[in-house]
Amino acid sequence: MSYDPLNTPNHPDAAHPASAGTAPHPGTPNPPDSAPGAPHLDFAGSTPYEDYVHADVLTHLQELRSEDPGEMVFLVTTQVMELWFTVLVHEWETAARALREDELPRALDALRRSRRELDALNASWLPLAGLTPAQFNSYRGALGEGSGFQSAMYRRLEFLLGEKSAAMLVPHKGTARAHAELEKALHEPGLYDEALRFLARRGHPVPHSVLDRDLSRRYEPSEQVEAVWAEIYRGDQRGEEVRLGEALTDVGELVWRWRNDHLTATRRAMGSKQGTGGSAGVAWLEKRATKSVFPELWTARGRV
Ligand code: HEM
Repeated sequence: MSYDPLNTPNHPDAAHPASAGTAPHPGTPNPPDSAPGAPHLDFAGSTPYEDYVHADVLTHLQELRSEDPGEMVFLVTTQVMELWFTVLVHEWETAARALREDELPRALDALRRSRRELDALNASWLPLAGLTPAQFNSYRGALGEGSGFQSAMYRRLEFLLGEKSAAMLVPHKGTARAHAELEKALHEPGLYDEALRFLARRGHPVPHSVLDRDLSRRYEPSEQVEAVWAEIYRGDQRGEEVRLGEALTDVGELVWRWRNDHLTATRRAMGSKQGTGGSAGVAWLEKRATKSVFPELWTARGRV
C-alpha cells in the first residue's frame, strides 16, 4: 500500500494517519454508520500504521518458555531494552559522523536526544527492580544459558563508548548480520575517538598515540587528554567545547547508572549465584560497573 504525501514516516502525523486532516482516501470510504470526523476504518490491505510500525510482528515476538505469569514482563523488558540500545547506537553513530564532519551542533543534538533516551532506558528497569529470588527462580531455568551478555546490540553500544574487545565477537559467529555489524564497529572510531579527533583539528594537543591508536582495542586513558579537557573546562563555561564535554559526561553518567541498576536488580534477584551466561554473576558485574565511560572527562575535573 502506498502512502499519501502527508503520511510519510517523517511526517509528524505518520504514527496517527487518520489525524492527518485530509479527506477520506479514495477507495476506502467510511462505513455508513461511522460518525462524521471519525477515523478511517476500512483499508484495502493492512493498515498504514501496521505498514510503518510492524506492530503485529512486534507484539507476537514473545515466545514464553515457562508457565510463570511473571516471565512476560521479564521478556518484554529485555526486548524493550534491546530497542533502546538500537536507538542509542543510532544516535551515537549520528553524533560520531557529525563530529567527523566538524558539525558540532548536529552532534550535540544527537547527544542531547540520547540523554532523554537513556533516561527512558533506565526507567525500564522499574518492573524488574524488585524481583525476589523465588520469583526469578520461577522462570530462570527456562532461560537455559541465555544471558544479556550475549546481546549484540549492547556490545555495539559498548564498542561505540570505547569498550572494544575482539573476543566479544566470538559469541556472535553463528549470526552473520550481528557478527558483520560488530566486526565493522570494532575497527571503526568510537564516539570518543571522534570527539578527540575533532578537538585535535581545533588545535588541542591530543597526542598522536591516542589519535593513531589501534581502534580494535579498549580505549586507555591518557594524561595528555586529561590535560586537554582540564584546559577546556577552565575556559568559557558557555563555549562549544564545554558543551561537548558535558553532553558526553551526561552519556557516561547515565550508562554508568544503567550498569548499576542492572547490578542492583541482579543482586536482589539472585544474590551470589552464578549467571546463566556462565560468569560469577554479581561479582563479575561489579567489576564491569566500575569501568569509567570517557575516563578523562571525570579525572580532569580534579585539575580545574
Ligand atoms: C533481574 C534480571 C536480570 C538478572 C538477574 C541479570 C543477570 C545478569 C548476569 C549475572 C550477567 C553476567 C553474565 C552472565 O553470567 O549471565 C548479566 C549480564 C548482562 N545482562 Fe543481565 N540480568 C537481568 C536483566 C537484564 C535485562 C533486562 C537486560 C536487558 C537487555 C540485561 C542485559 C545484560 C547485559 C547487556 C549483560 C552484559 C553486561 C556486560 O557485558 O558488561 N540483563 N546479567
